[in-house]
Amino acid sequence: MAGGLRLEEAAPAKINLALHVTGQRGDGYHLLDSLVTFADFGDSLTFEPADEDRFSVSGSFADDVPRTDDPETGNLVLKARNGLRSLGRSKGAECPPVHIHLKKELPPAAGIGGGSADAAATLRGLLKFWNIQPDHDAFKALGLTLGADVPMCLAKRPLIARGVGEDITEATMFPALFMVLANPLIPVSTPAVFKALQHKHQAPLLTGEPPRDAGGWYHLVEESRNDLSLPARSIVPKIGSVLDILYAAKADLVRMSGSGATCFGLYPSAEAAEAAAAHIKSAQPEWFVVAVRTVTSGR
Ligand code: C5P
Repeated sequence: MAGGLRLEEAAPAKINLALHVTGQRGDGYHLLDSLVTFADFGDSLTFEPADEDRFSVSGSFADDVPRTDDPETGNLVLKARNGLRSLGRSKGAECPPVHIHLKKELPPAAGIGGGSADAAATLRGLLKFWNIQPDHDAFKALGLTLGADVPMCLAKRPLIARGVGEDITEATMFPALFMVLANPLIPVSTPAVFKALQHKHQAPLLTGEPPRDAGGWYHLVEESRNDLSLPARSIVPKIGSVLDILYAAKADLVRMSGSGATCFGLYPSAEAAEAAAAHIKSAQPEWFVVAVRTVTSGR
């Protein structure tokens, strides 16, 4: 059997702590300033040698994901595999068949990465599995073509994303946060939310230098916003109830992530977040509710 060893790659949930829309490009894509971090919870992928390409899916949301590599409607995992194989083969690498297994624990169309996290994990995993080093610019372009959130999911550490999501600056000395993610399991269409957005030229996230310590970052989160909240709530009013329930569960700060419908509440400790998640889950058993800890930048 051809190919490398079995590999595992995490696809952590992406959380937009802040998302300011600062403008719009000629092609319709919006310019953003987003403060992003990643949870210790998400999907996971494995890559194994195979006689021919295979794709299998398990996990809580397995039934909701496409299984084909159709350029329009297909799974981003397979589009990422195909795109990276083309780049590898253009440099003379073999890029042999691979069995990719996706364990899908993130709800789709939920504003916390999902497909973008999976695509990024596929790219990271297959770089190692095939032992290839594609051209840097071509690799970056491939990520962005797969989705505006793929470059940030490739980084999977606290960061500020600008442009349409491709201009990434690492957030150093960023603190771990304890939070509850809550989603009423109503999928939200990102293009529909951007279409409903009225104010496209909002103030940027930062006017001066980025914060240099945990307190400074926390303060920035408190001072910032998600400009997609209003348009998302106009499409899915239930997002308002999610925010209310997180407030009622004593979160220090509550906000929507990405284009929704997932909202997060920040808590002072893992214990407080877990207690709040248990409380919300008992009141709303049909919702996706999870207590997570976010990653630190490590320096
Ligand atoms: O790149 P991705 O497929 O994730 O984007 C989905 C849609 O969201 C785009 O087709 C576009 O309508 C909208 N979008 C945007 N500005 C961004 C990112 C996404 O308008 N920065």
